[in-house]
Amino acid sequence: MDKLIIEGGVKLKGEVTVSGAKNAVLPILAATLLTDEPCVIKGVPNLRDTNSMLKILRALGKIAEFDKGRVSITAGKTSNYIAEYKLVSTMRASFCVLGPLLGKLKKAKVSLPGGCVIGVRPVDLHLKGIRALGADISIDSGYVIAKTSKLRGTYIYLGGVYGSSVLATDNVMMAAVLASGKTVIESAACEPEVADLAEFLIKMGAKIKGHGTPVIEIEGVKHLHGATHSIIPDRIEAGTLILAALITGGDVLVRNVQYQHLGALIDKLSEAGAHIERTDGALRVKGNRKLRSVNITTLPYPGFPTDMQAQMMSLMSVTGGISVITEKIYPDRFMHVAELNRMGAHIQSGAPVMASDLRASAGLVLAGLAACGKTSISRIYHLERGYEFIEQKLINLGAKVWREKE
Ligand code: UD1
Repeated sequence: MDKLIIEGGVKLKGEVTVSGAKNAVLPILAATLLTDEPCVIKGVPNLRDTNSMLKILRALGKIAEFDKGRVSITAGKTSNYIAEYKLVSTMRASFCVLGPLLGKLKKAKVSLPGGCVIGVRPVDLHLKGIRALGADISIDSGYVIAKTSKLRGTYIYLGGVYGSSVLATDNVMMAAVLASGKTVIESAACEPEVADLAEFLIKMGAKIKGHGTPVIEIEGVKHLHGATHSIIPDRIEAGTLILAALITGGDVLVRNVQYQHLGALIDKLSEAGAHIERTDGALRVKGNRKLRSVNITTLPYPGFPTDMQAQMMSLMSVTGGISVITEKIYPDRFMHVAELNRMGAHIQSGAPVMASDLRASAGLVLAGLAACGKTSISRIYHLERGYEFIEQKLINLGAKVWREKE
């Protein structure tokens, strides 16, 4: 296992390009199961999670190649309906093969998912939506077994205790595209990654309206064909890089960003007094001002993203004043707090810390960049699940970062 060592205190400077969105590419790859025709996905980040999803697709019958940001699914019928525990347990997003398998093959057996350890993460909303479309669902030995003679469009209210669910919306939308008749998903997730999946499905021949809003309408079709699609930029990676520039007092041009996807974050950073200049498809971040504390509450999109909470906490640890951070999506997502405290209340000194989940790792990397002296972050494999070439990107901006064996 590797650990990441950061020699902090260097102001990041230069340009960096954001990769394609992890949370868009994973369900989009799953959606290729809905057709036996070739598909090409561009702008695909080379991440551990992407490779895990490709392994699952291959196990389900697809022939998939991944080269230089491009996945080509050349041939291979969706032939197997069983997604095994050893593949699905590595990441939660793999559970969204359930909808497409059921739509295409009328049956699916998918292991209950794994993913980041951030409290209990149920799948009741996924199952509620898929059941409403007319599937029989049972759970046996850690597997969800779903069968149907025919999926039928219907009205589905998909809101849960914590609001909408991203992957449940993806899963139900993918099952509904091949159902007969019209499906309405109410309280659907509005995240840009859900909208990107819908755009891909539309290119495959699906009839979808309202994606990106809380009400998605799907008119079922009999057949979907192959399609080519480019993935949207990763707004969480963009946000993390923006905070890296700010926390080090640097000057960074962050390229390949969709400004409108970063509204809640940029608004909070402006309130804190940060200087962020918008140029064509890029953001120039100057960390030359002293920032003020701000209060944030994580919410479903377009609210402040939970996936930026840990990174924002690191930044708020080095500003003056007290910031209050309220987590409304995952009540247990505060495991990075203890680790940040090990680095001193205001992140004055480096310390050995441990990555507990993907975004907590990113928060610790930011803290390490800001701290004086060396920070070593163990269990760095979490970071590799979601940030493409992150060390190299930081090194190119001048950061002193390297890897050592634990
Ligand atoms: C997705 C993202 C993840 C992000 C999260 C919230 C992907 C691959 N992952 O995860 O990075 O942190 O959205 O923005 O896109 N819930 C239920 N029942 C369910 C499903 C979810 O109660 O059946 C709850 C969850 O426990 C959580 C909330 O709903 O409290 C939102 O979770 P959800 O949007 O489903 O997260 P994911 O789609 O798994």
